[in-house]
Amino acid sequence: MREVAIVGAKTTEFGELWERSLRDIVVEAGIGAIEDAGISGKEIDAMYVGNMSGGRFVEQEHLGALIADYSGLARGLHVASTRVEAACASGGLALRQAIQAVSSGYSNVAIAAGAEKMTDISSSGATDALSAAADREWEGIQGATFPGIYAMIAKLHMAKYGTTSEQLAAVAVKNHENGMHNPIAQFKSKISIEQVLKSIMVSDPLHILDCSPVSDGAAAVVVVPAEDALKYTDKPIYVKASAQASDTIALHDRRDITTLDATVVAGKRAYEMAGLTPKDISFVEVHDCFTIAEICAIEDLGFADKGKGGVVSMNGETKLGGRIPVNPSGGLKSCGHPVGATGVKQAVEAVTQLRGEAGKRQVEGAKYGMTHNVGGSGATAVVHIFSSER
Ligand code: COA
Repeated sequence: MREVAIVGAKTTEFGELWERSLRDIVVEAGIGAIEDAGISGKEIDAMYVGNMSGGRFVEQEHLGALIADYSGLARGLHVASTRVEAACASGGLALRQAIQAVSSGYSNVAIAAGAEKMTDISSSGATDALSAAADREWEGIQGATFPGIYAMIAKLHMAKYGTTSEQLAAVAVKNHENGMHNPIAQFKSKISIEQVLKSIMVSDPLHILDCSPVSDGAAAVVVVPAEDALKYTDKPIYVKASAQASDTIALHDRRDITTLDATVVAGKRAYEMAGLTPKDISFVEVHDCFTIAEICAIEDLGFADKGKGGVVSMNGETKLGGRIPVNPSGGLKSCGHPVGATGVKQAVEAVTQLRGEAGKRQVEGAKYGMTHNVGGSGATAVVHIFSSER
C-alpha cells in the first residue's frame, strides 16, 4: 500500500440551488478541485461519485457515467467512473474508494466527488426518499422518518444520562456560529438556545433547529500518491487513516441505540492506522444530521465520556478555541446536508483547515483533522484522519 495525499479540493455553495442541475453542480466541484490541484484531465484515471438517490431526487441513475461525460472525462479519455452509494455516507465512502484505488496502485490520480440535488421534489418526497436509508420493512413502513429515529435516540440519551434540550440546542447554536464564517453554508445566521427551544417541534425532542436541512450541493477532491504530491501543490494534505465499519440497519437490533457501534469501530480502526489517540486530533468534522447525532459522535469517537457529550457541548469545549473544536465548517446543521456530498465536503473542510486557509473559522495550529460520515442511523460509518505533515 502506498501513502496518499489530497492535492485539490472544492465545494459548491450548499443550499436550495433552484437554478442548478445535479450534473451542473458536480461538474463545478470537480473542475474546481482539478484547477486547485493544477492537473490536466489526461492524468486522471479514476473517478468515484458519492450519491445517495439520484433516482428518487432527480430521476437520474447511472451517475458515474453521466458525471464522467459532463466533466469531459468520458469521450476521448474514457476515465473509469463509479457511483458509490451508502446513504448519507456515500461521499465519505467515495473518498475511501479513491484512496484505496491510489493506495493499491490501481490508479495514480483519482477524483472523489459527492453530490445530491434534493430540493427538486417535495419535502414529503425527500423525507420518504431519505427513509429508504433505514430499514424499510421494520422502520419506514411503520412511519419512522429520520427525525423520528434520531428523536428516539435523543429520548433514550436524555433518560439514561440526563441530557437536556438546552444541551442539544447548544450544538446547533455553536454550528451556526461557525457556519456564519463559511461562504458555502446554507444558513449563515446566528441563533440562540432560546430560538432553538422555541422553534417548531419536528419530532419530540427535536425542534426544526435541531435538524440538518434538505439541501443541494456537491464537493470534490483529487487524490494522488504521497510521493507525487509536491508536483501539484506546496500544501498537500496527507491521508493518515481511512476506516469504515457497518452495523445493523434497524435500531431495534442494536445493543444500545445511544452508541453507534459502527462509529466506535471505524474510529478505533482509524486511530490505530494513524497511530494516534483522540488527544492528538486538532479538530473533527462529525455527522451532525441532528444535534443528538453530534453528541453521540463525540462520545463514540472518544472526545467525551459516555453520557457527557451534552455537558461537553454546553460548556464550550467543542467551540472554536475550545478543547476539541467540533464542526468548524458549521457541520450539516449550518452548511446543509446534500446527503451524497456531505462526506466529501467534510474532507474539503479538513483540507482547508490543515492548509491554514479557513479564515475566521480557522482552528489555530491544526495538525491532525478527523472526518466522520454516517449512513442512515449508523449502519455505515466512515472515518478519515488527515494531516499537513507526511
Ligand atoms: N434548520 C433551519 N431552518 C430550516 C431547516 C433547518 N433544518 N429546515 C427548514 N428550515 C427553514 C427553511 O429555510 C424555511 O425558511 P423560510 O420560510 O425563511 O424560507 C422554513 O424553515 C420552512 O422550510 P421547509 O423546507 O418548508 O421545511 P420543512 O418543514 O419541509 O422541513 C425538516 C423541515 C426539518 C422536516 C427538514 O429540513 C428535514 O427533514 N430535515 C432532516 C433531513 C434528514 O433527515 N436528513 C438525513 C439525516 S440522516
